[in-house]
Amino acid sequence: MHLYPVQDRTVVVVDIFRATSCMVTAFAHGVESITPFANLDACRSMKAKGYITSGERDGKKVEGFDKGNSPFEYMGPDIAGRKIAFTTTNGTQAIEKAKGASKIVVGSFLNLTAVTRYLLLNEHNILVVCAGWKGKVNQEDTIFAGALVEKLKDYLDPDCDAPVMAQRLYREARTDMVDYLKDSSHVRRLARLGIQKDIGFCLTPDQYPILPVLKDGILTVR
Ligand code: MLT
Repeated sequence: MHLYPVQDRTVVVVDIFRATSCMVTAFAHGVESITPFANLDACRSMKAKGYITSGERDGKKVEGFDKGNSPFEYMGPDIAGRKIAFTTTNGTQAIEKAKGASKIVVGSFLNLTAVTRYLLLNEHNILVVCAGWKGKVNQEDTIFAGALVEKLKDYLDPDCDAPVMAQRLYREARTDMVDYLKDSSHVRRLARLGIQKDIGFCLTPDQYPILPVLKDGILTVR
């Protein structure tokens, strides 16, 4: 059972490091669609249907997959016009949990303004689903939720304190998010894997005016 019901809501799914940042980058570089999978084997089976198989477990590229979970892997001409099957430790699980919502969109700093504009015109209550890490809280997804609250603050009427807390965290972090997050759990995890350059990129606002929307289990851009 959901702590926060998704029915009649517009859900923004966010996994800043790095699933939703990858998805937005992939669409900005011409991917036709992304089908998110919670299950690894279901994702793997899509290779036989001509899909690019993408994703990670515990931050590491899945053996036998075409691509991992770095946004820099989704900037080349090889992905234009292709369909991707994507599975990640937390991001695609969060999308799965959001199913049943009126609308599901993908948010990241890279498309912050595109998400904000969409929410301003949206008629439903909003729920930001922070993917976190294996059911636990992380800072970067909450900071992104706070950035949305900051941008929408004149129009919101929060039904609990979480949005206000997220906004305060964002205000504290915003002048230098890379520095603010340097000791955070996933930054340390990615550093152990030698993945540092993704951090700054994933925290750069408004690189792409792209809004991925989930319909019938498939992400496309509007
Ligand atoms: C996830 O979905 O768990 C993340 O994107 C992990 C990662 O940084 O690869």
